[in-house]
Amino acid sequence: MKRVFSGIQPSGELHLGNLLGALINWERLQDDHDAVYCVVDLHALTLPQAPEVLRQNTINLAQLLMAVGIDPERSILFVQSHVPQHPQLAWLMECTVSYGELSRMTAFKDKSNRDSTKFVSAGLFTYPALQAADILLYDTDVVPVGDDQRQHIEITRDIAERFNSRFGDTFVVPEHRIPPAGARVMDLQHPDRKMSKSEGESPGTIWVLEDEKKIEKKFKRAVTDSDGEVRFDIESKPGVSNLLSILGAATGKSPEALAESYTQYGPLKGDTAEAVIELLRPIQARFAELQADPAETERLLKMGADKAEAIAADVLARAKNNIGLLG
Ligand code: TYM
Repeated sequence: MKRVFSGIQPSGELHLGNLLGALINWERLQDDHDAVYCVVDLHALTLPQAPEVLRQNTINLAQLLMAVGIDPERSILFVQSHVPQHPQLAWLMECTVSYGELSRMTAFKDKSNRDSTKFVSAGLFTYPALQAADILLYDTDVVPVGDDQRQHIEITRDIAERFNSRFGDTFVVPEHRIPPAGARVMDLQHPDRKMSKSEGESPGTIWVLEDEKKIEKKFKRAVTDSDGEVRFDIESKPGVSNLLSILGAATGKSPEALAESYTQYGPLKGDTAEAVIELLRPIQARFAELQADPAETERLLKMGADKAEAIAADVLARAKNNIGLLG
């Protein structure tokens, strides 16, 4: 069976982009893959985090993943810092990637340029090396992610190929799996920006745990355009195309086909809101149940870490041996 690996940061709340761009695919891929999913708390440390908030976010995110349908008995679900091989392999990755390659990462440029007075950690710069370690440690074939992670998967492939050519066959070279609809969910108020966790008031972000009334209101107020025609055209109609993509991802239909069933923006907004609410309802209910028992979540995460470590230890030993470190 092919192996799938992916990760998500416990920095702030989960939003609709995370769900449609990545988590829906994570859930589906469990059926016919050997799946390994990780709450990447070490990655979250690249930006400032309050310790208590980080701890709570990590548990909540693990519970949300289970609420979405990640089954810790069937798949491996764990927290990155519980498996020490991740930062260990990351050092080997840092020594295999160049300063120039890391400097070209758009995620680094975006995050480090936002505020020039801000503290920019070295970890933010070397982040892709840790991400490459996450993926390569599990002999991963497929990495389900949203479109914004494309470049990080590309650099992971480059690192794996370079390591293999220098030190002999060591790593499986992975492929990304980006969904046809929902890979790039945009902010409802600013359809030229992707929906993200880092907005303050966030009228353009739908949270996975948000209540129905608020979701309806946000969709009703979603920015569209004034030409009144429902058409899937990301360049010239970003707002309408975003609604069609969301509706498509939530219902499993293509945005282009959906466009043909609408002549007005109002019903499109209403149906999109309804489809999203239907999608979120069982997730919210299941999350409420799981939240009542954090000790059980911690037990499941420890079990996941043990299973993950059993795989990661072998792969790290292979890499250390091939690069010339003493066993
Ligand atoms: P993170 O935590 O920012 O996001 C988790 C997943 O959600 C996707 N995503 C979106 N998809 C569609 N539209 C959006 N607006 C949107 N916003 C986020 C992301 O593409 C991602 O799949 N670097 C990663 C975490 C990571 C990782 C890994 C991923 C660490 N190690 C190894 C895969 C494999 C990140 O920050 O994702």
